[in-house]
Amino acid sequence: MKLVSASEYRSLEQLETFFHIVDTLRSPWIKGIDPYYVARGKVMVIVTNEPSTRTRLSFEVAMKRLGGEVCWLSLDNSSSVAKGESTQDSIKVASQLGDVLVIRHSDPEIIHWAKNNLNTHLINAGNGSEEHPTQALLDAYTIREKIKTENMHILFCGDLTFSRTMHSLLYLLSLYPNTKFTFVANSDRNKIPAIVKDANVFDNLEAALLESAPIDVLYMTRLQEERKTFTGRYPGITERVMKLLPENSIIMHPLPRLTEIPTWVDSDKRAVYFDQVKNGLYVRMGLLYQIFGLERD
Ligand code: NCD
Repeated sequence: MKLVSASEYRSLEQLETFFHIVDTLRSPWIKGIDPYYVARGKVMVIVTNEPSTRTRLSFEVAMKRLGGEVCWLSLDNSSSVAKGESTQDSIKVASQLGDVLVIRHSDPEIIHWAKNNLNTHLINAGNGSEEHPTQALLDAYTIREKIKTENMHILFCGDLTFSRTMHSLLYLLSLYPNTKFTFVANSDRNKIPAIVKDANVFDNLEAALLESAPIDVLYMTRLQEERKTFTGRYPGITERVMKLLPENSIIMHPLPRLTEIPTWVDSDKRAVYFDQVKNGLYVRMGLLYQIFGLERD
């Protein structure tokens, strides 16, 4: 398996086939599968030059729940990068030692190079501001779990230019029938990804909620400060926003959050961003099952 872009999911049927695997793995744990057998004897190598909390932890826990082992290579001063080794050479080394490579790198091209040059299972865990396909899978899985997915209306709010989770999720949500997209952009420097045509774009969250049709999903993203500086006012959730949000809608965020979702929102039943984290474990277990489980069946 080489999962580099969410656009590799070309039909709803393909996505649903995957989600059925995830459903089977999550509850109850054992349904004709010994989970500790799936990845036993296999090693995942996670290679990164960027910080990671959820992605790193959930890939590790997923691999361990399936009986596998995990190694970690940080491309910083603790590795031979400090001696001048190229990123490509370091990744080639990792590919010789691991059964599956998970790569998060700030240079968006590295994962494409790896796809074209390595003969190993490969998962993109975030390439610059381009894509984050496993986050999109867990986001779509969470939406499928929480609301109806036909005719859904999703409002993306925040750093539209640099939010890789949003870029990947757009691909998956476009597979569902009649999905409607609305955007709140943090400034006019942001551009709407080409995949969405005829989208409504607002510069204010309250105005978007007042003036567009009722929404089902509010998907918030943080300002990607490490990718570009921005000094304007960043849109966020206010008490008025919560009043305008439909009762049966959900609030999502890939996390980490900054100020765009105050912590008092967490206790609202519409806030599902910590549920997303749990689903991230199940979805990554599903991917590892597709890689290793099917080899053993
Ligand atoms: C995101 C990422 O790294 O792209 N986090 C994550 O993996 N859940 C979101 C972000 O950093 O803003």
